[in-house]
Amino acid sequence: MEKQKIMGNTEGVRDSVLRRMEAWYDFEIGADEYITQELCAEMAAVSFEIRREIAVFVTRGGGIPEIRVGDIGRVSSQWSRLRRHSRGLNRVRLLHTHPGGDYSLSEADLSTLTVMGFDSVCAIGVGDTGEVTGLMAAFGNYEPEADSRYRLLSAHRFSRIDQEGWMREIAVSENEYIRFRREEDGPERVILAGCDSERSLDELSALADSAGVTVVAKYYQKRPGADSSLYIGRGKADEIALAVQNLDADAVIFDDELTGRQIRLLEEIIGAKTLDRTALILDIFAQRARTNEGKLQVMAAQLKYRSTHLIGQGLVLSRLGGGIGTRGPGETKLEIDRRRIREQVADIGRRLDAMKRERDLRRRNREKNAVPVVALVGYTNVGKSSLMNRLSGAGVFVEDRLFATLDAVSRRVDMKDGASFVLVDTVGFVNKLPHDLVEAFRSTLEEAALADILVIVSDASDPERDAHRQTVEEVLHSLGADTQPRIEVLNKCDLAEDAGDMPDAVRVSALDGSGLELLLSEIVRFVRSREKVFTVLIPYSRYSLIGVLRGAGRVLASEDGPEGTRITLALPDSEQKQLCGKYSLEMTPAEENG
Ligand code: GTP
Repeated sequence: MEKQKIMGNTEGVRDSVLRRMEAWYDFEIGADEYITQELCAEMAAVSFEIRREIAVFVTRGGGIPEIRVGDIGRVSSQWSRLRRHSRGLNRVRLLHTHPGGDYSLSEADLSTLTVMGFDSVCAIGVGDTGEVTGLMAAFGNYEPEADSRYRLLSAHRFSRIDQEGWMREIAVSENEYIRFRREEDGPERVILAGCDSERSLDELSALADSAGVTVVAKYYQKRPGADSSLYIGRGKADEIALAVQNLDADAVIFDDELTGRQIRLLEEIIGAKTLDRTALILDIFAQRARTNEGKLQVMAAQLKYRSTHLIGQGLVLSRLGGGIGTRGPGETKLEIDRRRIREQVADIGRRLDAMKRERDLRRRNREKNAVPVVALVGYTNVGKSSLMNRLSGAGVFVEDRLFATLDAVSRRVDMKDGASFVLVDTVGFVNKLPHDLVEAFRSTLEEAALADILVIVSDASDPERDAHRQTVEEVLHSLGADTQPRIEVLNKCDLAEDAGDMPDAVRVSALDGSGLELLLSEIVRFVRSREKVFTVLIPYSRYSLIGVLRGAGRVLASEDGPEGTRITLALPDSEQKQLCGKYSLEMTPAEENG
């Protein structure tokens, strides 16, 4: 970044002293360090020499964007603008000297902290010989019930500063700020940028809507510039930085997965929170997961993502910018190290395994009961949950946002004529679904892979229908779900007349209910094609077995005779064998008559 001059009241300050201060711009402060000894000593010495206050601004990444001489009451308001851009604190701490020797923070210092939204404000006391008399730092207390608006920490000597502890205080303030102040800020304003395809960018836009943020501009660059370290060209990045200022945007979301390093570089140029597509999708999943299993799955994926993208970059704190990309696990614990994250992921993994075992058991029970499983699959937002509601009468969560469904939700449907099946709603598929999420949801998606029948739903009104159908095909293939019978369904036919190249699809509308009878009868036809018809004689002494048979299959006829009741029933082959073995029954194949 461009080298800056010393700001503020530098009149009368010798050039050599100004040069000495300019060298501070190159000082390195670690991301876990509040202030370095070198910077502290230099500030005290020079402040003593020029007998004025000196303020140094330090970013979360440890950079020094501004050095200012004079009263910090006049700190430029650009710092409060920054806060608007990050929806959190302004991600900068203000270190300044008190030449009088008293290092306690004044009322003015403290109000600067909260009015400007600084991460922290720190006073460095300068003694009679230019030595450091002590330091005091304030951190905003944003909890509404709190007794004081600040938390103060001090150290009489530099070596007494708990560097990591002070940095942790910033994380705590930020979290409080996000929790208690965020609602006041309204929806976040984001800029989207990508170089994959315009279509992909449009989908990113739909995803952003789904996350509840407002898209204020989109930037598409056909081919990334030479500077691939940035994902986009440097010129484009500068253009976006300008747009962030002009459009008052809070964040920029890139259309592909970025490396931690790219995020860091882009954030520095753009000066606003920078996210990638994966973080956005994870955020949506975090908002949407409903069952414990789904929540844990998302949490594990988020932790993995964070450990590879953030922790190693020393940007842990700066990523706590509020709003999108910050929901999820362990926000107050973000300072924990990789090892702790690994432990958490492993722990979640164990809990998920236990849940998976439970689900497998349920599934096996279902198999034992021979109730066929019909899975609704399809691209996100095609109307799977709406169809599920219509078909099963169940109150499944339906919303006009992508990914309303994250967890496999199943409902048993009993038809009047006795046919039964279990209808499973699955997570919506999407392009570029982050790898970790596919893994995380693999066990849920397996519901689709293990279903007896797939109902593949497409949105008749979607211009991208064919491409989305292709994505669905790829996901199904990767799950090994390509052998089951399939029923193609075109939903939202109330919105579109043309079936295009899907003439054989069952045309329905979950909205007005048209075509649903036909769809149900198609499902039933498939269910029945798995069945055979048998007759069996149940002696009156074993009358209770009739209930068992009714539970296992469809009773087509029953006739009382001298030795007992003769039942004609339809059920899958496998089921017939099981029942015969278990209850020592003799069943004979019969011609179906009804
Ligand atoms: P995910 O869970 O995100 O995969 O979505 P989904 O496929 O389950 O879609 P959902 O049922 O949530 O429906 C998405 C939106 O489409 C909702 O606003 C529905 O009201 C709307 N919708 C669903 N079916 C129809 C339909 O037949 N006609 C019209 N006009 N809108 C529909």
